[in-house]
Amino acid sequence: MNVIIVASECSPFCKTGGLGDVVGALPKALARRGHRVMVVIPRYGEYADAKDLGVRRRYRVAGQDSEVNYFHAFIDGVDFVFIEAPPFRHRHNDIYGGERFDILKRMILFCKAAVEVPWYAPCGGSIYGDGNLVFIANDWHTALLPVYLKAYYRDNGLMQYARSVLVIHNIAHQGRGPVDDFAAMDLPEHYIDHFKLYDPVGGEHSNVFAAGLKMADRVVTVSHGYLWELKTMDGGWGLHEIINQNDWKLHGIVNGIDMAEWNPEVDVHLQSDGYANYTFETLDTGKKQCKAALQRQLGLPVRDDVPLIGFIGRLDGQKGVDIIGDAMPWMAGQDVQVVLLGTGRPDLEEMLRRLESEHGERGVRAWVGFSVEMAHRITAGADVMLMPSRFEPCGLNQLYAMAYGTVPVVHAVGGLRDTVAPFDPFAGTGLGWTFDRAEAGRMIDALGHCLNTYRNYKESWRGLQERGMSQDLSWDHAAELYEDVLVKAKYQW
Ligand code: GLC
Repeated sequence: MNVIIVASECSPFCKTGGLGDVVGALPKALARRGHRVMVVIPRYGEYADAKDLGVRRRYRVAGQDSEVNYFHAFIDGVDFVFIEAPPFRHRHNDIYGGERFDILKRMILFCKAAVEVPWYAPCGGSIYGDGNLVFIANDWHTALLPVYLKAYYRDNGLMQYARSVLVIHNIAHQGRGPVDDFAAMDLPEHYIDHFKLYDPVGGEHSNVFAAGLKMADRVVTVSHGYLWELKTMDGGWGLHEIINQNDWKLHGIVNGIDMAEWNPEVDVHLQSDGYANYTFETLDTGKKQCKAALQRQLGLPVRDDVPLIGFIGRLDGQKGVDIIGDAMPWMAGQDVQVVLLGTGRPDLEEMLRRLESEHGERGVRAWVGFSVEMAHRITAGADVMLMPSRFEPCGLNQLYAMAYGTVPVVHAVGGLRDTVAPFDPFAGTGLGWTFDRAEAGRMIDALGHCLNTYRNYKESWRGLQERGMSQDLSWDHAAELYEDVLVKAKYQW
């Protein structure tokens, strides 16, 4: 099949979170399965290996023309097409920055250019070919792609056989705005009904995600738990009715992890500063060494017996780092070490700094910043990974943690509930601890059980690590499930 994956971010070129990781890994996995795969993303920076294809196009957005160039690189069996236009330039470190309407305009321009890639940047072959083409769009930013595919092409008898799949990584962001937004999109008048939505929070408004969900041939979300939550009033963020009406085309597929990047045996971030690569067999030497190196790097006492607890995440309401803040007085009294890594809301960054200054003596460290290297090192060096997310469509850090023999303690929600089976000491099963409400008290209960096991039941701990590390978390399995959905999008509608 010919697959074109369209997204606002893609690791390693530009990434702010899990979406970038998925878009970096899924295409390679699909290509390994024999598909012709292309990734289309904006050109926010100078991606050195990408060559200008010399194609110039103009697209109209909100009444103004914008010139677009297409750049190309072929990497790991995948064609990457970078859409270059003035609004994307110099946005490398701020890809979602700017005024709401400016962001919308960027996404309109990007989707208009992306949907034409089969013609203007077919990368040496005919990507449209026999018509066996499926686009995969991701989140609200590219939810206009299924809409343009339908309105500009299929409604007009063009690209009749092309289909689209829309992946929901996070329903909290929807491209909401006044109904006037619709005028900027250049769509046939009657399409306005697909965008118009009324809900008690937004009143009558225009909703890009809503239109995309209706127009896509299939919809995927990144776990089964989240799929279920999306159908509820709380979990659907105003789109639950549309989700329910489209139940027949919904699929839950848990993300994989990129084993070239997140594998303790080959991880390049563990090859200097005293860190070490390791496997389950060499946990006692390798992981121990990583823990000591991390403690040294953070200026913590180098002790193997003290449990080291990590948190890695965007600092916002979703990730629940404030819950860790609430629990910190208890945690700091437990003879543990804690390291928190993230950037985001200024008040939460401030909270992290405060936690370190108040509890630094008791082993609490805050690393305010975005550091891929530190994320890898904490994942390897910590014993426990804490994820009190209020909602979590899939969550990747718990998967990375398990692959590194680091035991997750998570709020049982969305993908966290799908992937972290609770530890059962009697049956000797399970992968970590879960708690059923995103509150400090519940998290403390779970963490208490976890610390008790760490300290007193070494064999149980070893079992948790072994089960975690021996799972197949690679993308190969998930890619196979995506393939099923692509086939359904193509032939069953
Ligand atoms: C979003 C979600 C996260 C998910 C990621 C990749 O960032 O918040 O849960 O893992 O997308 O799908």
